[in-house]
Amino acid sequence: MIETTETGIDGLDEILNGGIVTNSTTLVSGNPGAGKSILCLQFIYNGVELYDEKGIYLTFEEDARDLQEAAESLGFENWGDHVESGDIKIYDKQQLLRENDFSSSLDLLLSDIEGAGYDRLVLDSLAMFELFFEDETEKRTYLLKFTDILRKNELTTLMTNEQGAVFPETEIGLENYLTDGNIYLIQTPTESGVSRYVWVAKMRKQNIETDIFPMEIGESGIRVHQNASAFSLMNEDESPI
Ligand SMILES: Nc1ncnc2c1ncn2[C@@H]1O[C@H](COP(=O)(O)OP(=O)(O)O)[C@@H](O)[C@H]1O
Ligand SMILES: [Mg+2]
Repeated sequence: MIETTETGIDGLDEILNGGIVTNSTTLVSGNPGAGKSILCLQFIYNGVELYDEKGIYLTFEEDARDLQEAAESLGFENWGDHVESGDIKIYDKQQLLRENDFSSSLDLLLSDIEGAGYDRLVLDSLAMFELFFEDETEKRTYLLKFTDILRKNELTTLMTNEQGAVFPETEIGLENYLTDGNIYLIQTPTESGVSRYVWVAKMRKQNIETDIFPMEIGESGIRVHQNASAFSLMNEDESPI
């Protein structure tokens, strides 16, 4: 039996056949506003609240206070307490860029992670993370070093990726070598608002449902509906959305 780490998100663990594969790295891709950060917040918050698992949240896009406000807007009222107790450890932009060069900040971060007993980690976002390296070689070296530390410390990781298109890039990026799973969040405009879908395209070692499932973002976060949708990735004229 493959060990899985439950997201605690209604409907998602079912289509993942239990949860995210423990000690793996999954890429969560989607357009801006698709729900990537919300999924990550739920993953970390539920980890502490429901499964007694400590989490690390790395974010470039917001500072720790903004993140707490986002969490509280979803009803995660104990977020601040968990941060205070250390069950949730946040590295915001200031923390991640605290040294003169990014690689020195990362070395500090990696030594913090080492042996500290965390179970879950979020990197929001991978694209921002990649942006701060001086060159391609440094980027590769650190991404490999980073994923190595994640594996050694048995962390189950989500990394977000701004993805403009529904379909993955055909060019094989470094992230495809580093990640064991791929989850796509899709949003399409409708007359009354937006329709949202989730597609688990890949989860290494797992037999997952690869259909596209409708989901919604409500007051308490993401909920995935179990009825596989009749959603088609093609318009009637067969051009991709
Ligand atoms: N508290 C909330 N209640 C309901 N919907 C929300 C709430 N917070 C955010 N949303 C919706 O969720 C969408 C996705 O947010 P987010 O996870 O930040 O997207 P991403 O990280 O993919 O850019 C937002 O555009 C907004 O419409
Ligand atoms: Mg986001």
